[in-house]
Amino acid sequence: MTALLKLDTVSRRFDALWAVRNVNLTVEKGELLGLIGPNGAGKSTLFNLIAGALLPSGGEIVFDGQRVTTWKSYRIARIGIARTFQIPKPYRQLSVVENVMLTAFQHNHAVRAARELAVRSLHDVGLQDYVDAPVTTLTVGLLKRLEVARALALQPKLVLFDEIMAGLTPTEVGVMTKFIAELPARGITVVWVEHVLHAIMRTATRIVVLNRGELIANGKPADIAKDPAVIKAYLGEEMSLA
Ligand SMILES: Nc1ncnc2c1ncn2[C@@H]1O[C@H](COP(=O)(O)OP(=O)(O)OP(=O)(O)O)[C@@H](O)[C@H]1O
Ligand SMILES: [Mg+2]
Repeated sequence: MTALLKLDTVSRRFDALWAVRNVNLTVEKGELLGLIGPNGAGKSTLFNLIAGALLPSGGEIVFDGQRVTTWKSYRIARIGIARTFQIPKPYRQLSVVENVMLTAFQHNHAVRAARELAVRSLHDVGLQDYVDAPVTTLTVGLLKRLEVARALALQPKLVLFDEIMAGLTPTEVGVMTKFIAELPARGITVVWVEHVLHAIMRTATRIVVLNRGELIANGKPADIAKDPAVIKAYLGEEMSLA
């Protein structure tokens, strides 16, 4: 395995609060890594640090052999890290496909090619019937899928999914989970933050757990499900993966 992303003692402080503290983490190429932890643990902050939306207070971030610690988000996107937002903020005056084209343009400067890539991404996530619909007609669940399409249209090496199951029906969760599970085979490495535990614990190949900004566990889902520190901080009781 080759390391695609490496975090070395990455921290981020907001005044007196350490939202992320001394996180060491290596993500291998082709992994489907789950990142879980209670509300306020620092998961989205960690994504913001990796994606260049926030500057770390300390530590180093290396992606694909390059030190990207202080890179701005547009540069991070260009070298192949895509992310979704926990709270989708689409461009409300644009159509569904136009929202996805904004990221597709990163690789395709021709409008037609960008549109084709955007439409393909929308098909991937089951939004084929909404291509030219105004984005304001999408429900919360559909907006989550739009976030995924938008990220994939970047044709990323690494994608960071932040709670994309919230607002989806159980059937939709099943379809989306299957779709995510297939991404590594398409050459896309995945780091996925999720509170819908049955989905992530059954799909991820490895799970890391954040609590109060610190990594408290790192291992196979079956081991994480019975880890006393994880049960105390987050799960409440041992989780059955049957
Ligand atoms: N811009 C900010 N300014 C100040 N504090 C912040 C900021 N962003 C996050 N925080 C704080 O940092 C901590 C971590 O927040 P973060 O959003 O990363 O948690 P999370 O693990 O994503 O939680 P959730 O599961 O609820 O999404 C929280 O205490 C939060 O209030
Ligand atoms: Mg969050």
